Parts: sequence; C-alpha cells; structure tokens
Amino acid sequence: MKSIHFFDAQFQQQIAKGEFALNPFEQAVLPHLSGGVLDLGCGLGNLAIAAARLGCAVTALDASRTGVDRVNEAANKLGLGLAAYQADLSHYAIDGDYDSIVAIGLLMFFPQDKARAMLADIIAHTKPGGVAAVNVLIEGTTFMGMFEPGHYYLFDDNELTKEFEGWEILYSQHDKFSAPENSVKKFHTLVAKKPA
Ligand SMILES: C[S@@+](CC[C@H](N)C(=O)[O-])C[C@H]1O[C@@H](n2cnc3c(N)ncnc32)[C@H](O)[C@@H]1O
Repeated sequence: MKSIHFFDAQFQQQIAKGEFALNPFEQAVLPHLSGGVLDLGCGLGNLAIAAARLGCAVTALDASRTGVDRVNEAANKLGLGLAAYQADLSHYAIDGDYDSIVAIGLLMFFPQDKARAMLADIIAHTKPGGVAAVNVLIEGTTFMGMFEPGHYYLFDDNELTKEFEGWEILYSQHDKFSAPENSVKKFHTLVAKKPA
C-alpha cells in the first residue's frame, strides 16, 4: 500500500536524524489524554510515548514495521506501560472500550466507507466520560502524493463536528499547510468528550 511505504520510508529517515518531536496535532491532543489509551496509526509513537510517560496505559497500532519497532524499543528502554502492534487498520474493528481513543492522520487513508466505519467505531468504543481525538485531511487538500488512487477519503469541513454532536468539544481547529508543487493540505483536528 502506497501510504504505508510512504510513511515507513519517512520514519526511517526521522529515526536516522533523531527527529522525535511531537507534531502540532499531537501537542494539542496530549493534555486531553488519560487512563487507557488506544492510539490508532501511532506512526513513530511520539504521542503514545509521551502519554505513557504521563501514566497512561497505551496500546498503539500502525501498519509501519519501522514505527512499531521504534515504539516498542523506546517503551522497553524507558519501562513504560505501552505496547505497540503492527496491524493493517483498514480491516480492523476496535476490541474493548477505552478512556481515550486517538486517530491522528489516519482515517483519510481508507476508502470513504471504511473511514466512516472506523470513525463510528471510535465513537462507539470511547467510554462514557472519555475522550476521542481525531485529525483528518479535509476537502480542499490538493497534495495527493501519499495516497493510493481510489483508496483515500477527504472528509468535509464539518463532518467531524456533526459526527460528535452531543459530545463536549474540548478542541477544534482547522489548519492549512503548504505542500510540494504548490499544493496544500487542509486538516480538521477535533477532541471531544463523550457524555458520562
Ligand atoms: C500521517 S501519519 C500519522 C502518524 C502519527 N499519528 C503522527 O501524528 O505522527 C499516518 C500513519 O498512518 C499509518 N497508516 C496508513 N495506512 C494504514 C493502514 N492501512 N493501517 C495501519 N496504519 C496505517 C501510517 O503508517 C502512518 O504511521
């Protein structure tokens, strides 16, 4: 799958350079996490590791072997309550309920039906009083370099907000970043608390 190769190669370069800083989305999400955390599409695991350092019990999943190995090595070295597993999340159903479920930069790599099904699964498996943190690329994004043709979904501007209707919105931000060849990436990041 193109997206998985794209990120695996990127992660190898980041590991070689020692680049492990939280990205802006992860920085925004971290203060809202607590308890049992499920991090879907954890990448290099910078957020998962930071949450575990704060005392969360983290399960982290990603398709990238490079990402998952790095997370587990760091967790073992630091003695953290964190386990990462390699999984193709386009064929995955969440098992169990969590205090916090995170999906930063993941759902857009699935076809529309799978992206929406996983969002519904996140909503269903967040415990009452728990938190879901979701970041997606939205319509208006013109950078297509990481997508498999026909195997991606750009959410509409307000889709996340509508899906989390009735939840307390803790954080909501739209961002636009320049990308190669005069293209752009547009994101919506939403952190919401499920009614207790
Ligand atoms: C934009 S990166 C985000 C990584 C991390 N959440 C972060 O904020 O840095 C997207 C991640 O989704 C993962 N991914 C893409 N398609 C996937 C799939 N089908 N199953 C599991 N992970 C996938 C990639 O390996 C990559 O780690």
